[in-house]
Amino acid sequence: MRMRRKRHLEPRLEACADLLVARGRPMPNLREAAEHYRALLDFSELFGNDNPVELEVGCGNGRFIIGLAKREPAKNYLAVEICSNVILTAMENAKREGIGNVRFLNIPAEILPCYLPERSVETVYLNFSTPLPETSRERQRLTSSRFLSIYRALLKDGGRIVQKTDSEPFFDYSLRKYAENGFEVTELTRDLHASAYAAENIVTEYEQNFIDRGLPIFRAAAVKREE
Ligand SMILES: C[S@@+](CC[C@H](N)C(=O)[O-])C[C@H]1O[C@@H](n2cnc3c(N)ncnc32)[C@H](O)[C@@H]1O
Repeated sequence: MRMRRKRHLEPRLEACADLLVARGRPMPNLREAAEHYRALLDFSELFGNDNPVELEVGCGNGRFIIGLAKREPAKNYLAVEICSNVILTAMENAKREGIGNVRFLNIPAEILPCYLPERSVETVYLNFSTPLPETSRERQRLTSSRFLSIYRALLKDGGRIVQKTDSEPFFDYSLRKYAENGFEVTELTRDLHASAYAAENIVTEYEQNFIDRGLPIFRAAAVKREE
């Protein structure tokens, strides 16, 4: 279902301009575009310090990244979200709470290499990415080989992807893709909330819905293997 455009979307985005560091539109041949267009962010300038940087892809309303940023003030966070309507909520929440260590990119993750230097982030968080079970949409899954090669380039050596999902088929697909694309799975649970990882877990908007329905959450961490 198409979401209705929020009222006064543009002026409200403008009011969050200090938090919004990139805005772009999907375009054909995204990887090719990324090869030729660079507006690389200078993290020291952006955050005013050299703290480690972590990235969430598909941040939704920002509940996770804002919670993490509050808990880890000695780290910096970038949150990517393709949908302007949705990222607006995340930015307005971050602004209301006075969060200083998060910035937002309203772009498709496909063009992250235009904005983020190689080997610059420590962690990529993927929370409840849409599973897209149709074979024809495999390329759009955020754990397809196409995306994993992007994250691999952006991650520092020893960096990792942390994924949560409610979809077991998508989880199993992702585990196969990690193995095929130079990542080693070091943490894995098929019932996050009954595991040791529950203590440090930050519940996302979508996750709350699955918890309320009594559904298990699948979680994995996959470390970038040396080349
Ligand atoms: C199912 S929602 C999950 C939102 C949030 N992470 C949560 O757990 O509550 C997936 C989000 O990923 C975003 N998304 C999907 N594909 C994307 C892409 N290629 N680049 C950036 N964001 C994307 C969608 O717009 C949507 O907001």
